[in-house]
Amino acid sequence: MNISDRFNGSTSVYGIIGNPIEHSFSPVLQNTLIEKYGINGVYSPFRVDEDKVGDALKGLFALGIKGINVTVPHKKAVMPYLERIDETADIIGAVNTLKKTDTGFEGYNTDILGLKKSFELNGVEIKDKKVMLLGAGGAANAAAVLLCQLGAKEIILVNRTKQKAEELKDHILKYFNADVSIISYDEMESIEKPDVIINTTSVGMGEGNYASPVKNENYFEGVKAVFDAIYIPWETKLLSDAKRCGCKTINGFDMLIYQGIASFEIWNGISVSDEDAVEIRNILGEYFLRRK
Ligand code: ATR
Repeated sequence: MNISDRFNGSTSVYGIIGNPIEHSFSPVLQNTLIEKYGINGVYSPFRVDEDKVGDALKGLFALGIKGINVTVPHKKAVMPYLERIDETADIIGAVNTLKKTDTGFEGYNTDILGLKKSFELNGVEIKDKKVMLLGAGGAANAAAVLLCQLGAKEIILVNRTKQKAEELKDHILKYFNADVSIISYDEMESIEKPDVIINTTSVGMGEGNYASPVKNENYFEGVKAVFDAIYIPWETKLLSDAKRCGCKTINGFDMLIYQGIASFEIWNGISVSDEDAVEIRNILGEYFLRRK
C-alpha cells in the first residue's frame, strides 16, 4: 500500500524517545504490529536530549501522541513528569512505556514483561530455582524484581562493584521476602551451581566482541539455562560457552520483541496471542539477521 493511502486525518502517532535513537529496532517492530492489526497509526523515533525530557513530554502530550516508548538514557528521567506510575515500574525505578490519558501519561515497565514472556516461551523455569544474576545495574534491577515475583528459591548477585550489588540487594529486600546473596566473580566456582544464569552486564556486547563475564568456559556444566540480555552479537561468548556445556541458551532478542508487544497491547487494548507473538518474533528475527 502507498504511504499516501496509509495515512489520513485520523492517523494516530506513536513513538520512541531516547538518545541516540538511530539504531532503535522499535520502529520496525511497532510498525509491523500496527500493520498486522490494521491500526490507522504510525510509530516514529524521536531523539531527545537529556535536558529536554520535560519539554518533550509536554509537547508529545499536547500533540496527542497515543503511546511512547522510552529508551536509554531517559527511563528514570521521565518519571517525575507522569500522571501515574504502575506499581512494578515504580519498584524497578524505570519506565519504558507511556500511555496517553486525558490528563497526562501513565508509565509502565514492559522490559520486565518482555523478560517474563521470553522465559515462558523458551521454557525457562524460575519458580523454586536457584538463579545467578550477573550485573547490578538497571537491567539487573528489573530482572531481580521478576525473579522475586516468579518465586525464585535463591538469587545470587554477582557484580564487579560490590557496593552496587549491595544497593540492589537492599532495594529488593524492601519489597520482597527473598533469599538474596552476593558473591564476586572469583567466588563463583566455590558455590553450588545455579539452575539458571542471567547476564545483564554489557560484557560481550557488540559485533566482534568475544569477551564473557564468566572466565571459565566450562563453568556452565550442570546449569540448565543461560539467558543473555544481549542480542548483538546474536550469540555472545557466554551463550556459546553455555551451549557447548549443554545448557538451553536464550539471547535478548525475544525480550526485545515481547517488551514491544506488551507496549503495543497497553496502548491499543489488544491482546496479542502467543501464536501471533511467535510469528512476529520469527519474521523480525529473520529481518534482523538479514539487516546485520
Ligand atoms: P544497564 O542499565 O543496562 O543494566 P548499567 O546500569 O550501566 O546498564 O549496568 C551495567 C552492568 O554491567 C553493571 O553491573 C556493571 O558492573 P559494575 O557495577 O561493576 O560497573 C557491568 N559491567 C560493565 N562492564 C563490566 C566488566 N568489564 N566486567 C564486569 N561487569 C561489567
